[in-house]
Amino acid sequence: MPGSKLAIVGAGSVGTSLAYAALIRGSASNIALFDVNSGKAEAEVLDLAHGTQFAAGATSVTGGGDIGVTEGADVVVITAGAKQEPGQTRLDLAGTNVRILEQLMPKLLERAPDAVYVLVTNPCDVLTVAARQITGLPAGRIFSSGTVLDTSRLRWLLARHAGVSVASVHASMVGEHGDTEFPVWSGARIGPVPIREWTSGSGRTFTQEHLTDTAREVTQAAYKVIAGKGATNYAIGLSGARIVEALLRDENAVLPVSTVLDGQYGISGVALSLPSIVGRQGVLRVLDTPMDQDELAALQHSADTLRNTLSTLGL
Ligand code: LAC
Repeated sequence: MPGSKLAIVGAGSVGTSLAYAALIRGSASNIALFDVNSGKAEAEVLDLAHGTQFAAGATSVTGGGDIGVTEGADVVVITAGAKQEPGQTRLDLAGTNVRILEQLMPKLLERAPDAVYVLVTNPCDVLTVAARQITGLPAGRIFSSGTVLDTSRLRWLLARHAGVSVASVHASMVGEHGDTEFPVWSGARIGPVPIREWTSGSGRTFTQEHLTDTAREVTQAAYKVIAGKGATNYAIGLSGARIVEALLRDENAVLPVSTVLDGQYGISGVALSLPSIVGRQGVLRVLDTPMDQDELAALQHSADTLRNTLSTLGL
């Protein structure tokens, strides 16, 4: 992507991990890292730039404490905000991080009016609604990483249990990027084989009990990592870099990102994750993913949970 510019807002563990992943993967030609803590931002930029020789492609890394470093970005990924502490849910961060967005978004739009905006900061679904209201951008140009990370966690667990490549596992977590997310088992496959029909030498690999345990392991994953190391950063950084590539390479890739729905599944005004087509203009279309009755009910529960938080914030 000659000349493509990725701006990352926030030089904390998530923002810097995303920058590092994008540098290694060659996700963008230019990576600009902004943080109000200029000393931190400048040091992180230096540390990243020092490794440029070993990165894929010719990537320039710039940045600092002046929001002007985001000038002309094609994609802006927002990672700034309060982070989940042990025992906190993502929704607990909503009020604080909405207020940060209210300050941040108008300044970013001045400098990158044509960018696609990706929210990573949590609660990303709630912040997507807030950011859309603050900016007035069309739904496709302001969305969040949603359950892209959770889907990666799910696919890793399934691949490991089945003994196959993770690239051959087709399964998605959808809904809130949070406690009410769920896997669409009815559409989950390994290669062409429906997950419930996958067998190893000794019969069906994925009993209902195993599927239930796997779903819980995904939903609890972040709590487990946060309890052990204080934050999650590597996998969300890689997830963000993957989304940036789908945007900048105009891939029209199907990814479970979170956009503000406009009547899909009878849901409006709430952002949650569903498999969607992601290309240069952002989210081109939210796919009508077939779901069984239990899954449709779980999607409504996710939407209701998010709607409750939105209403407490007046969004
Ligand atoms: C997680 C954070 C990014 O799920 O919400 O690790």
